[in-house]
Amino acid sequence: MATMRSYSFLITFLFLFSSFLNDFYAATAAEKKVYMVYMGELSKAEDEFNTESVHLGILDQVLDSSSARESLVYSYRKSFNGFAAKLTEKEHKKLRGMEGVVSVFPSKTLQLDTTRSWDFLGLPTTVKRMPTVESDVIIGMIDTGIWPESESFSDNGIRPPPSKWKGICQNFTCNNKIVGARFYNARQIYNEEEEQSPRDFEGHGSHTASTVAGCEVKNTSLYGLAEGTVRGAVPSARIAVYKVCWSFGCADHDILAAFDDAIEDGVDVLSVSLGSPFITSFAEDVVSIGSFHAMKKGILTSASAGNRGPASATITNFAPWVLTVAASTTDRRIISNVTTGNKITMMGHAVNTFPTQEKYHPIISAVKAARNHSTGSARNCLPNSLDKDLVKGKIVYCDTYSSGGGPFVANALGMVVLDDAGYDDTAFSYPLPAAALTIAEGREFEQYMKSTRKPVAKIYKSQAIHDPKAPYVASFSSRGGGSSRFSPNILKPDLSAPGVDILAAWSPKGGVSNYEDDKRSVMYNIISGTSMSCPHATGAAAYVKTFHPSWSPAAIKSALMTTASPMNSSYNEEAELAYGAGHIYPLKAINPGLVYDLQKSEYIQYLCSMGYDPKEIKIITGEDITCAKVKQFESGLNYPSFGAGVDSGASFAHYFPRTVTNVGIPNSTYKATVGKQPLLNITVDPDVLSFKSLNEKQQFTVNVSGEAIDQDVLVVSTWLLWSDGIHNVRSPIVFWVK
Ligand SMILES: *[C@@H]1O[C@H](CO)[C@@H](O)[C@H](O)[C@H]1NC(C)=O
Ligand SMILES: *[C@@H]1O[C@H](CO)[C@@H](O)[C@H](O)[C@H]1NC(C)=O
Ligand SMILES: *[C@@H]1O[C@H](CO)[C@@H](O)[C@H](O)[C@H]1NC(C)=O
Ligand SMILES: *[C@@H]1O[C@H](CO)[C@@H](O)[C@H](O)[C@H]1NC(C)=O
Ligand SMILES: *[C@@H]1O[C@H](CO)[C@@H](O)[C@H](O)[C@H]1NC(C)=O
Ligand SMILES: *[C@@H]1O[C@H](CO)[C@@H](O)[C@H](O)[C@H]1NC(C)=O
Ligand SMILES: *[C@@H]1O[C@H](CO)[C@@H](O)[C@H](O)[C@H]1NC(C)=O
Ligand SMILES: *[C@@H]1O[C@H](CO)[C@@H](O)[C@H](O)[C@H]1NC(C)=O
Repeated sequence: MATMRSYSFLITFLFLFSSFLNDFYAATAAEKKVYMVYMGELSKAEDEFNTESVHLGILDQVLDSSSARESLVYSYRKSFNGFAAKLTEKEHKKLRGMEGVVSVFPSKTLQLDTTRSWDFLGLPTTVKRMPTVESDVIIGMIDTGIWPESESFSDNGIRPPPSKWKGICQNFTCNNKIVGARFYNARQIYNEEEEQSPRDFEGHGSHTASTVAGCEVKNTSLYGLAEGTVRGAVPSARIAVYKVCWSFGCADHDILAAFDDAIEDGVDVLSVSLGSPFITSFAEDVVSIGSFHAMKKGILTSASAGNRGPASATITNFAPWVLTVAASTTDRRIISNVTTGNKITMMGHAVNTFPTQEKYHPIISAVKAARNHSTGSARNCLPNSLDKDLVKGKIVYCDTYSSGGGPFVANALGMVVLDDAGYDDTAFSYPLPAAALTIAEGREFEQYMKSTRKPVAKIYKSQAIHDPKAPYVASFSSRGGGSSRFSPNILKPDLSAPGVDILAAWSPKGGVSNYEDDKRSVMYNIISGTSMSCPHATGAAAYVKTFHPSWSPAAIKSALMTTASPMNSSYNEEAELAYGAGHIYPLKAINPGLVYDLQKSEYIQYLCSMGYDPKEIKIITGEDITCAKVKQFESGLNYPSFGAGVDSGASFAHYFPRTVTNVGIPNSTYKATVGKQPLLNITVDPDVLSFKSLNEKQQFTVNVSGEAIDQDVLVVSTWLLWSDGIHNVRSPIVFWVK
């Protein structure tokens, strides 16, 4: 199980997925697996007890041997009608045909996607705040739990939670900062260390929670690295913890139970840094389902875009009612130099907390240090593949990417690793002194090794350097585009936020690297992932909500998107498919001028237009609906960006009807401007909008036509700007080849 903690390690994370799936599908016919069972809408008359007995009654009719009570994992009773139960293949088939059962899915295991950032985002400590309102905002974190003793979660000077709060603390002592803490592990799988409580044994959940709402903690660092003040976006806000992720991963049935409780407890914003990359329908995705129900109750869900970039069409969490967050860099980069015997220094990328090596050490190539001639696994520097005697007193060179397990277990003095996976823009932690090199640097390093009989090198402790190119989207961050059936005419991700080399709270049980035997225990750690960018957006959303408590989730999302700072496509050739509307700018988002608002019924119409049938829509929305006979045009969803996938080699025409709501100045006049783009003809009709009052709505249409887009052109884009001279409401217009 050890390496399953590797969420922040993209490489291992990707390897691991296949093993999770094998695990899942390996169950034999007689074995019981957990299934999610969706039923019709909850009727008002059904109280909690009744719903559960209905669920038990249904189970009774399908079970061969075990009792319904034993088989029932969860009875969802608050926002959803349905349950999770342990069933054999045969029982599952029987259940599918039962009356009232809308659908049955096997429960999947999801993975976590794995400070200077707030200053970099233009949200300094001195920013204007609504302190009283802010302290009434409760952030729901669906994650690995929390380490309550962290200074980041101290409740010094914080008054008791608002009376609207209905959450509880299970096997856990809350305070006025952490006002709720529940845990979900229906399969009861715990490793030796894990407690049956919401306590964080990983670090990830403490990291994300402190990024959203951690208190200000001065003079924090990781072994002196990235020293400074750590704080969340809304340091007065409260945190409610829903622990669903354990050493084995995060189970669908647990996640849905967490959404159910969080919505009922009264959270204001939800932060979900996890995702399922292999879904084929919103109806199979608990984050899409849970966040839809949250949206119905006015709660915005911010979610990570996924760590499967830079390949296109790799986004997770792409439902239009979710805020999908990509990960970008800040102007602080962490480097780890290595100098070879010929005095050439290469700027490696790694978080190396170990002291700079005082002298040069001999280098040995991993292949030459193989134990029992196991050159295959030695080449990958896997644990137990290297011969201890051969690597003793040496630095190991790994010519394919490794998380350092092999050299660490063999007691090497260090590792120089060639990052052939291409994640050159992100620094990861290793269990021993390490520097990761780009392919070009690696070749230079190999040249040096060949040039001398006794190659030597020394590895430096990491340092932070200024990166003038920031922000750009990290290579690991998932990209939109492609021919995804889910949101063909919705641009995803929605926006980008910092997710690279982020310092935030950690669990002392978590270890610095993701290697189990790494005994370094810290209260603050530097990690990367869309898991880290998501809470930045959650925090920004909470900040906006403190100024506009009555705004809908869609209005808050629109405000964040239309005020985002443009990013530079020179650094990300996929442009908006990497960063969406751009780089989040919380301070501007509190005063967007106009918003593109959306209600539940419009999302339902959108699902109809995408060809979802009423049964699937019921699973997602919990409601019986009839789709309008005339199929609505998909681009008609009142989204704050304009996007569509087009066929390669064919000219195209798209129109986007939109409605904006005035939330700026009562009498104001907005004029439209469109960015130059020779490959598109764009008209905005009307191109002037005059408002007389607040909350007044006005409609317009954007028509776009274009010649065929070349197959090798990833994306053709420009922007629409509505401006009254004070507010700039900017939306990307983006076309990609399906
Ligand atoms: C609370 O946590 C402790 C420590 O892991 C555990 O022994 C106990 O069973 C837990 N109690 C409940 C009610 O889950
Ligand atoms: C920060 O803490 C370190 C060690 O704990 C200490 O040496 C240093 O003086 C502190 N710096 C500031 C600015 O307080
Ligand atoms: C690391 O290398 C860079 C580039 O050569 C250099 O600017 C920097 O000073 C070096 N840092 C250390 C600690 O040697
Ligand atoms: C290497 O060989 C030794 C002795 O033959 C054996 O005990 C050990 O398991 C082998 N190790 C590996 C990694 O194959
Ligand atoms: C984008 O980056 C390129 C390369 O550094 C630079 O030449 C260009 O001016 C930048 N564009 C903008 C709009 O900042
Ligand atoms: C709004 O109305 C007021 C009073 O009629 C007027 O003074 C002001 O110039 C108007 N502002 C705009 C932007 O039209
Ligand atoms: C935009 O396209 C729609 C649908 O093709 C059409 O009805 C409308 O007249 C067009 N508007 C403009 C301004 O071209
Ligand atoms: C834009 O419209 C003009 C005039 O109708 C036409 O000549 C041109 O080919 C169009 N360009 C594109 C990219 O569609």
